[in-house]
Amino acid sequence: MPSSSQWNERYAAKALWSGKVNPTLVIAAGELETGSALDVGCGEGADAVWLASQGWRVRGVDFSQEALARAADAATRENVANRCEWIQADLSVWTTNRSYDLVTCHFLHEEAAVRGRAWRSAAAAVISGGTLLIVGHSPDEHESLPGPPSDVRFSEDQIIAELGLSSGWHVEVKTKARETGADVYDQPGPQRGRRDVVLTAKRLSN
Ligand SMILES: C[S@@+](CC[C@H](N)C(=O)[O-])C[C@H]1O[C@@H](n2cnc3c(N)ncnc32)[C@H](O)[C@@H]1O
Repeated sequence: MPSSSQWNERYAAKALWSGKVNPTLVIAAGELETGSALDVGCGEGADAVWLASQGWRVRGVDFSQEALARAADAATRENVANRCEWIQADLSVWTTNRSYDLVTCHFLHEEAAVRGRAWRSAAAAVISGGTLLIVGHSPDEHESLPGPPSDVRFSEDQIIAELGLSSGWHVEVKTKARETGADVYDQPGPQRGRRDVVLTAKRLSN
C-alpha cells in the first residue's frame, strides 16, 4: 500500500481528483439536516468543502499534508474556510473523542487492517441518530476502468464483517451504478461502467 510519503508525492506532483464532490455524498446528505461532519481520508477536500458550502461544520482527516493544503485552499476559494478544519493524521492509529452527525469515508482502498480500523473509528464517532456513509469502488467494476487494484477493493460482505456494527444500527449496503448529482455535474445520470459499494448506517437513537 502507498505510504503517507508516497501519497504526498503523488499529490505534490499534480491534483489527483476532479475537485468535485462525490455524487453518492450529495444524495446521502440531501436527506439529512445540516450539522457536524467528519470526512475520513478527505484527500483534496472536495467532499468536505461541498458539505461546508451546504452549511455543515466539517473536519477532514488525511495523512497527506499536500492534499490537506489543497483542501484548505479550496475551502478559502469557496469562502467556507471558517466551517472547515483539517487534521493531518494516520488513520491506522487515529481516534477522536468527538461525535458527528455525519461521518463519511470515500474510496479508502487500503489494506483490510487499515481500512477496517479507520471504518470502526469512523463509526464510533457517529452520534446517536447520526449517519455513517462508506463508499468504495466495487470489485465488479470492469477492469478497463482506472481505479484501485482488485486486492484493496471490498465487497458488501467484507465491509459488513470488517466494520462489525452492533445491533444499535440500521444498516444498508448495496452495490450500485454511480449516479452523478444533477446539481453538481453537467450530465446527470449513471457514470458509464462505474459501480460502487455503498454502506449507509444510521446509529439508532437511545
Ligand atoms: C483515493 S483517495 C480518496 C480521497 C477522497 N476521499 C475523495 O474521494 O476524493 C484516498 C485518501 O486516503 C488517504 N489515506 C490513505 N491511507 C491513509 C491513512 N492510513 N491515514 C490517513 N489518510 C490515508 C490518502 O492520502 C488519500 O488522500
